[in-house]
Amino acid sequence: MPAVPRHPDTVAGFAGLARTIAADRAGWAPLVRYDAASRWYHRLRTGPGYEVWLLSWLPGQGSGRHGHGPSSGVFTVLEGELTEYARGTRRALRAEALRTFAPGYVHEVVNESLVPVVSLHVYFPGLTEMPMHEPVAACSAGTVQLAAD
Ligand SMILES: [Fe+2]
Repeated sequence: MPAVPRHPDTVAGFAGLARTIAADRAGWAPLVRYDAASRWYHRLRTGPGYEVWLLSWLPGQGSGRHGHGPSSGVFTVLEGELTEYARGTRRALRAEALRTFAPGYVHEVVNESLVPVVSLHVYFPGLTEMPMHEPVAACSAGTVQLAAD
């Protein structure tokens, strides 16, 4: 695997950064906490124009349907399985699954499993807003399509 530059400046570079951090379990695992009241998050590192966040999700915790303002992003699951609802699809995200998105992307992420989940999120530029959107009734009505990856 090619070396990840210290400060990536492409989507592929940020994906590589996320994979590199994910592989360093001894680096992130001791930092993880769980909060019964809401998702727990911790800013793991910052660089020029980007931020890396570590999140934990107890069973049932979710993001609500939201956008990311002007930010693009990369996120991956470090432990467990998350479910992402976006654009009428339901996608299971297990460890090593990696998602990228551009500004304007709207999704909802939920821990629908029975065990805690840990995830890693890179935002570029750093996340300055997370506008909430109305829930999509189709998600709870079972009419979403399963994503095929
Ligand atoms: Fe998001």
